[in-house]
Amino acid sequence: MKQPSSSPSGAPLETRATLDPADWDEFRALGHTMLDDMVDFMSTIRERPVWQSPSAEARAALSAPLPRAGADPREAYATFQKAIQPFPTGNIHPRFWGWVMGNGTPVGFLADMLGSALNCHVSGYDQAAALVEHEVLRWLAELMDYPKDASGLLVSGGTMANLVGLTVARNHAGGSTLRRDGLRPEAGGALTVYGSTATHSWVGRCCDLLGLGGKAFRTVAVDARHRVRVDELAAAIRADRGRGLQPFCIIANAGTVACGVCSARRFSSLDSSGKSGGGRGGRGSSTGA
Ligand SMILES: Cc1ncc(COP(=O)(O)O)c(C=O)c1O
Repeated sequence: MKQPSSSPSGAPLETRATLDPADWDEFRALGHTMLDDMVDFMSTIRERPVWQSPSAEARAALSAPLPRAGADPREAYATFQKAIQPFPTGNIHPRFWGWVMGNGTPVGFLADMLGSALNCHVSGYDQAAALVEHEVLRWLAELMDYPKDASGLLVSGGTMANLVGLTVARNHAGGSTLRRDGLRPEAGGALTVYGSTATHSWVGRCCDLLGLGGKAFRTVAVDARHRVRVDELAAAIRADRGRGLQPFCIIANAGTVACGVCSARRFSSLDSSGKSGGGRGGRGSSTGA
């Protein structure tokens, strides 16, 4: 289709419609500066404190009124340098021991830049980004000894990953009509899910989001080594079955948040009636990280 060469107001389209930088050479120079600055930032991180609270000036700079016009990227970068860069979470510092967040790697930030530059939509299509997702999933499946045809999704974080896992388990347990009719506890009993008291709080949120209700999550006591008490787990499942509820998922922890404990291997040998067996069972529908 022939493109109009000017907008209805008469201004040339290129100057009104493009998101390109006004000057590619300036853009390149700014990019090089940013790259050098961030490599300096990372390579000297040990010389700075792990964390500091954002200053009053930073807070003021980050509560500006809504801008009605675009800003020069150099100004935006100056704000970043003054108000953002000095006050991060701290998790990439080698002395950050406050919480479990990962720190990434220097090459990861370069990879983020490459990914952002291509900015692919990865819902499918005949393109390399989708092939990369499939390749990574295949590698993960192989690492975890999953079947070759196991599928998956790369998502934005732990809660999203567990939400997807719990959804798969819920849909499996709810039968073929669940996705059409929604949850119908009156039909087969309310769905219940089990995990140790050391399970991360994602599970309550996900039960809420999936319409199971927070009380669908049954917490099971841990032993002296913070591992789930398999006997209590089996008893809780049996009791819920006796009440007409429908246990559908056991959450196995591979490294709890508080102290990195893994669920006992024996855990995987619970059968669907809640009896604890001796051998190694199937994978079941366990999620967790
Ligand atoms: C098991 C588990 N699930 C979920 C989360 C939350 O992760 P995210 O913030 O990526 O959703 C964490 C974070 O510690 C976690 O350990």
